[in-house]
Amino acid sequence: MKTNMRAALAGLATGTAMLAGMMSQAHAEDIKVGMLLPYSGVYAALGQDIDDAFALGLETFGADAGATFDIIREDDEVKPPVGLAKTKKLILQDEVDVMVGIVSSGVLGAIRDTVDGAGVPLIVANAGNDEATGEACSPYITRVSFSNHQVNTPMGQWMVGQGVKKVFTIAPDYAAGRQMIDAFTAAFTAAGGEVVGQEWPAFQKTQDFGPFLANAKASGADAVYVFFAGGEAISFVKQYDSFGLKADMPLYGSGFLTSSLYVNAEGPAAEGVITALHYVPTLDNPENAAFVAAFKEKTGRIPSEYAVHGYDAARALVEAVKSGATDRDTLAAALPKVAFTGPRGDLRIDPATNNIVQPIHVYETVAGPDGLTQKVLATLPAVADPVNGCQMPSVN
Ligand code: PHB
Repeated sequence: MKTNMRAALAGLATGTAMLAGMMSQAHAEDIKVGMLLPYSGVYAALGQDIDDAFALGLETFGADAGATFDIIREDDEVKPPVGLAKTKKLILQDEVDVMVGIVSSGVLGAIRDTVDGAGVPLIVANAGNDEATGEACSPYITRVSFSNHQVNTPMGQWMVGQGVKKVFTIAPDYAAGRQMIDAFTAAFTAAGGEVVGQEWPAFQKTQDFGPFLANAKASGADAVYVFFAGGEAISFVKQYDSFGLKADMPLYGSGFLTSSLYVNAEGPAAEGVITALHYVPTLDNPENAAFVAAFKEKTGRIPSEYAVHGYDAARALVEAVKSGATDRDTLAAALPKVAFTGPRGDLRIDPATNNIVQPIHVYETVAGPDGLTQKVLATLPAVADPVNGCQMPSVN
């Protein structure tokens, strides 16, 4: 900005037409965006989907924002210490105005104090870590994706309503796995269900789920409820089927298990699996139809929940800039106030926690004309998360 202004002043003598051009340039902002995603590791495909859709969101909504958006990308490798080191680099060395991304709840937990302490706004475009919008909430953290509690709680109630009484749970042993299963368990048992056994395979290290599946089989459960995502979801769903469990013990879970991003890599093993999620590409509304068409045109893929997080993160940033935000503090103050109608419907952020409020869709993975697709069985109403100890301070 300052350099542009100096250049503008130096050029004043060259005439009014040029002056007019430079004046308009003086209104433009350069917003530096630090994009922290896993571009390698078990969640690499998820990171790329978010990145591709963020670019689409900037193209679609950002043209008249009066700003340019420079993206600096860093790979967190799904490793909390790497995520923390890259966060410090983006904040201190690159001096970004805003950070976007974060897929893993573990990485979000590791960087929370650094973004909060430095006063850098962070738009969370995936990681569901409940604490980041609960006891460890921050006026600098706004989440446009989901919380682990939000996706799994309604499914606990819904499954009991469907007559499922005894469940065995399996999820990777890290923050997201623990929080998703804890939220499900609390809702399922409160509604009268019983969790008869639980397994926590090591995150990113388990290739053979056989021993966990054997324990599920021996448990006498009616069904199995899991959280897995990315490469682990593909392995788990395939092994569940080849172990011969699917016929006797239906498989349920949070909907990342059968994400449209990789459900076709799971193949027929995913058919009939019932899960819950805040976005499926088969949602029938005009904003989603436009998004699916534009994303398909740009990438050749159907957008997933990860893509919608990236797309809506870009739109939230653009809306914040359009409302007059120009720097870290004004962006942090503006981001939780954004509201728009997107592919998921009406998007709104709860000011008590800075977490998104949205309905949850229970869907079955079914065969369609172009491969596996999502059949919505029920839409459960939007409920704001409990504040969980969040006392939201205002931006400094
Ligand atoms: C998380 O770690 O919060 C997480 C990762 C991948 C998902 C969902 C949640 O698909």
